[in-house]
Parts: sequence; C-alpha cells; structure tokens
Amino acid sequence: MEFMLDTADINQIKQLDKLITVAGVTTNPTIITASGKRVETVIEELCDYLAPNQKLFFQTVSQTPEGMLDEARAICALRPQNTYVKIPVTHAGMQVIKAAKQEGLGVLATAIYSADQAFLAAMNGADYLAPYVNRMCNYGDGVAQVLDLLAMLEKQQVDARVIAASFKSTDQVHRLIAAGIHAVTVPPAVVFAMLDHPGTELAVQEFSAAWSKSFGRESFSA
Ligand code: G3P
Repeated sequence: MEFMLDTADINQIKQLDKLITVAGVTTNPTIITASGKRVETVIEELCDYLAPNQKLFFQTVSQTPEGMLDEARAICALRPQNTYVKIPVTHAGMQVIKAAKQEGLGVLATAIYSADQAFLAAMNGADYLAPYVNRMCNYGDGVAQVLDLLAMLEKQQVDARVIAASFKSTDQVHRLIAAGIHAVTVPPAVVFAMLDHPGTELAVQEFSAAWSKSFGRESFSA
C-alpha cells in the first residue's frame, strides 16, 4: 500500500516525511495555486526534495488533446523516474491517456467520480486511478464506489492501481485501507488527524511523571 501526501506545501511534506513513510506527493492546479508560489518554484522545491524512489504527480491544465499531450511529456520529463502526469478523465483526457501510455509515460487518471469512469481509464492503460472519494459522496456513497472499483479491477484482472483521493475525514481513509486499497493520497490535516490522539500525550506524561518521581530523572539511564 502506498501512502502519499496530497499537497504542494514543502514544509508540511518535509515534516510528515520525517514522521511517516511517504511514497510520494500528488498535486493539482488548485493545490499549486493555493500555495501562493509560482508553479516553477513549486516544481523546483518538490523535485529537489523528494528522494528518487518517491513518486511525484503533476496535472495537465490544457483542455485540448494536443495541449494535454505536450504537457504530459513535459511533466514526465521533470525527473528521470517516478514522475507521473495526472490527466482528468474528460473526453480529451481519455484520448490523451491512451496516447501517453503508447509513449510509455506514467499516467494517473484523475477527477474520477465513478467506478465506471475509472475502469474505462484503466482499460486505456492508466497506471493509477484517482477516485475523488469525498466529492463522490455528494452523489452517493464514495467509499462504496471505490470498493466496487477494486472488485471490478480484480475480477477483470486489470492491474491499474487505485489511489483514492479527495479525503475530508480519517474515517474515509481508514475504511479504504481496511478494505485493501492500493494507495491513498491524503491532505496533511487529515494525516495529522490520523496520527495524533490526546490519549498518547497523556500516557507519555504519566510515564514521565512516574519515572521522575521514583528515579529523580527524565531519561532511561543516569
Ligand atoms: O488529489 C485530488 C484531490 O486533491 C481533490 O481533493 O479536496 O479538492 O476534493 P479535493
């Protein structure tokens, strides 16, 4: 299972990369523009920081097949390996997913709102499928749709990886990990909500207090 961060915030990426095992970073145009930085700066920060085995995902912005394919080539050339282009599953995008795969580019099909869209993108060769779990919940049960997608891929032996995205709660992430999702991309706020529990801090304070009271010091050995 790959756990990725859905953010372009380099400080949060560095912080979380120390705390948990980060398989990669996903961005999209909204995330990049919200950073308040120039896209060139975001690209440079991410390419400089990520280890070669950590994956990086940037999204196309053009809406014509020709423009999208040009952007796909440029995005995949940003790093020697493990860089993927995110392509929305519009009609133009579906066409470009096929073309990009024929050129051997790494492709993530994005802006997916249904298991059917995802399955068709997988048939076009997409390496990753990103269903927008929370947004799908506006149209029904997003988690259930993703579970259905996993079953479709398994039954049909299509080996695209599902990277569930657009999370707003720890419960959504939890349910999909428990069900065997291949990958998730999670915004830092939801990662911290998964990581932190007030009980842990209280327990540590309790242990420290007992130790200092008995041994008069705060470390294991004197
Ligand atoms: O990676 C896709 C994701 O960023 C969309 O998330 O929060 O805009 O629904 P959101």
